[in-house]
Amino acid sequence: MNRNTQTEQPVIVAVTGASGAPYALRLIQRLAAAGVPQHLLLSDAARVVLKQEVELDLPDEPKATALALADALGIDASGIRCYATKDWFSPSASGSAGIRRMIIIPCSMGTLARIACGASDNLIERAADVMIKERRQLILVPRETPLSAIHLENMLKLARLGVDMIPAMPGFYHRPESLDEIIDFVVDRVLNHIDMPNTEAKKWGS
Ligand SMILES: Cc1cc2nc3c(=O)[nH]c(=O)nc-3n(C[C@H](O)[C@H](O)[C@H](O)COP(=O)(O)O)c2cc1C
Repeated sequence: MNRNTQTEQPVIVAVTGASGAPYALRLIQRLAAAGVPQHLLLSDAARVVLKQEVELDLPDEPKATALALADALGIDASGIRCYATKDWFSPSASGSAGIRRMIIIPCSMGTLARIACGASDNLIERAADVMIKERRQLILVPRETPLSAIHLENMLKLARLGVDMIPAMPGFYHRPESLDEIIDFVVDRVLNHIDMPNTEAKKWGS
């Protein structure tokens, strides 16, 4: 797939109730800047965390959510479609829609566990299940500390199925001077994994 095709293909961006809402917002911003259409899925807990961590109180209705988010981030709302948690008729609920990439950022241990056992009880879990069964790209950005054996076993199970684990574990060897640089460290890793043009990322050895 060439770079142009990459930016035309939609990406499912799912946000769950783990700590790390700023990572999600930055990823949405960066994808929007690259002109990538986004299907946005928010868990109920993600809305609570967005309010707690970044004081973003989003309306319930999906279209209003997309508009409010675009307004808060200063991006074009036309590239973002938001879907309700039980919208089984949305494109991300079926393999036949052909969406090839999904990112769950941040990914809670609850969502991770439910994906690992194939629960598919909300649209995020169902979309992830579709990615796995269709052998498409699923990236999780898990966040919890400390990690229990349950969390680690679930991650191992999913990694063995080909799911990409990019934990929210920023490095400090680039000597970040701001919170933004720390957030970008994680978001850059995600963008590199979906092979997006990412000129801002610092490369090792550069
Ligand atoms: C402010 C806040 C921070 C949280 N941080 C985490 C976290 O880092 N990791 C995690 O797995 N759960 C965290 N939780 C708990 C999850 O939100 C909770 O388990 C929820 O049921 C997850 O639901 P979801 O997977 O549908 O989003 C946090 C909750 C709140 C309110």
